[in-house]
Amino acid sequence: MAQEEPALEARLAEGETYEPPASFVEQANVSDPGIYEEFEENWPECWERAADLLSWNQEYDTVLEDDDAPFYRWFTGGELNASYNCLDRHVEEGAKNRAAIKWEGELGETRTYTYSDLLYEVEAFAASLRELGVEEDDVVTLYLPMIPELPIAMLACARIGAPHSVVFAGFSADALATRMNAADSEYLVTCDGYYRRGDGLDHLSKANEGLEGVDHDVETVVVDRLGDDHSHSLSENQRDYDELVEAHEGETVEPVSREAEDMLFLMYTSGTTGQPKGVKHTTGGYLSYAAWTSHAVLDVKPEDTYWCAADIGWITGHSYIVYGPLALGTTTVMYEGTPDYPEKDRLWELVEKNDVDIFYTAPTAIRAFMKWGKQYPDQHDLSSLRLLGTVGEPINPRAWQWYYDHIGDGECPIIDTWWQTETGGMMITTLPGVGEMKPGSAGPPLPGIDARIVDASGDQVEAGNAGYLTVNNPWPGMLRTLYNNDERFLSEYWQEYSDEESDEWVYFPEDGAKIDEDGYITILGRVDDVINVSGHRLGTMEIESAIVGVEGVAEAAVVGGDHDIKGEAVYAYVIPEDGYTDDDSLESRIVEGVEDAIGPIARPEEVIVTPELPKTRSGKIMRRLLEDIASGNELGNTSTLRNPEVVEDIAAQVGDD
Ligand code: WT7
Repeated sequence: MAQEEPALEARLAEGETYEPPASFVEQANVSDPGIYEEFEENWPECWERAADLLSWNQEYDTVLEDDDAPFYRWFTGGELNASYNCLDRHVEEGAKNRAAIKWEGELGETRTYTYSDLLYEVEAFAASLRELGVEEDDVVTLYLPMIPELPIAMLACARIGAPHSVVFAGFSADALATRMNAADSEYLVTCDGYYRRGDGLDHLSKANEGLEGVDHDVETVVVDRLGDDHSHSLSENQRDYDELVEAHEGETVEPVSREAEDMLFLMYTSGTTGQPKGVKHTTGGYLSYAAWTSHAVLDVKPEDTYWCAADIGWITGHSYIVYGPLALGTTTVMYEGTPDYPEKDRLWELVEKNDVDIFYTAPTAIRAFMKWGKQYPDQHDLSSLRLLGTVGEPINPRAWQWYYDHIGDGECPIIDTWWQTETGGMMITTLPGVGEMKPGSAGPPLPGIDARIVDASGDQVEAGNAGYLTVNNPWPGMLRTLYNNDERFLSEYWQEYSDEESDEWVYFPEDGAKIDEDGYITILGRVDDVINVSGHRLGTMEIESAIVGVEGVAEAAVVGGDHDIKGEAVYAYVIPEDGYTDDDSLESRIVEGVEDAIGPIARPEEVIVTPELPKTRSGKIMRRLLEDIASGNELGNTSTLRNPEVVEDIAAQVGDD
């Protein structure tokens, strides 16, 4: 193996390409290369193809209205309901006994919901929400782990036209409170706890603590996941999920007809400032885009068993565990646990057991599989797989190759899909039945998407060069605004490259990228103060403000440094206050402070306590330098610093413990 590696690296560096297998192309939902031209020539009407995947109660009049750009409106005049599209219509079309969700629990238990089961549960919970007082347009917060009640609650909200705001269960009490306050959300659905590596974790205490920080009254529903493993008592304003639902079983709840532009959900994500951004997605545009990309890129067919091993608490799970696959009437697998419990072959065991056709995960997971070794996938028959996907961060060619060889057995195309919470769905990737693959490069923009790589002044760079990624036309799945903050929406995404005078609007995703002579785009990573840890987005400012809130901390700088498995990890450089320089508890209190403010995902890999931070003569912290130190890179010239002597001291500390 060690001997093979240089040869492999060389092959990959030469840019070896892979054609999709003929057997895949033959059956692919999209296999005509003409689709790119077709979309370009027929833009924006080409997006009717996405809208046509849905059932509308009221046909739309206009595909795109751009008179108030960049506040674009899609499929205006149209009306539909997302829950109807994900459930009722499949039942009506004869698929009532097809599995909609196959849930695999952490303890090995399983639950299968057919389309008619799921509809039944969704109606009962929709009626329950109404009993609580939820009305159309009320934001309902869902603070739930990977249990079936989460998609049930999402679809119940969608059914009655109440936008949901899912808060990842791993986020802290503070993070929950911030999001509930920002969304003015008066309803919360949470649970007593959940299992992690066999242990029952208390979740309700965290939810309750969060509620203490909410500045208005909240009605709460609590799902009982742990049963006897966790006794809890509910306070006033807190209802037991099962009791509530029992009273409404068998009820019919008509899906509310929503305008295409009505909000389907809010999803908070990290940005440059300390305040998370409430990304607003709509019913018509988002759902048609999630369905279209699931059809064209994930190649989902109703008879497939499809598995996206993400958490529904992130956008990947919204679009590609819940809305996209269910809109297409397929079977979506939902896994509660972790990939290495009880053994490191858990995922492959589930692929074999469920005959999974399509598998979608993140590079961080693939790098972990690689580290564990091929003996784990080798123990299982993975021949049901037809297509593999990755998302969330750049995939290094070696990990790509490992995935291709050991999971796909050299027979499954890989789609490396670039997109964001804000884009709603995939934007840059090969079409698996059309384009050749280049390991490490996501591929060309999807048909109808005008993504470009530009220099600082917005001019397109020559092939072979790096620059900034922009998107120069709108698409149906795009965010419509940041909730209650149009101004920040404009300044975050549209200010950089748009020309307002000539009404030319350019979306800036804040990623760097390069492009080759075939128009293939390789994503290089964020160019703002956002760190991508295991495919999860964290704002350095959010972490810094958590750290400076810790007693004894005078100043903090947080940066991302390279990490073998996580891609990037959090490094915190901290200047203690006078009197705290010898405080041994400082480091652990900082880690705790970050976990309390955000959650364990933001936990620093290392805390480096230092009397000074490297600064320019004008007093700016040299973040680049701190990143290089964290990544173990060679350090360039530091002589322009005001205090070059601190660099060596700091560098000596990193990786030292
Ligand atoms: C950021 C968006 C999209 C769902 C998961 C993350 C990075 C995403 C790729 C990819 C390289 C990628 C970008 C992007 N990213 N996919 N295939 N290759 N980088 O959603 O939390 O909104 O983060 O993830 O930097 O801006 P998110």
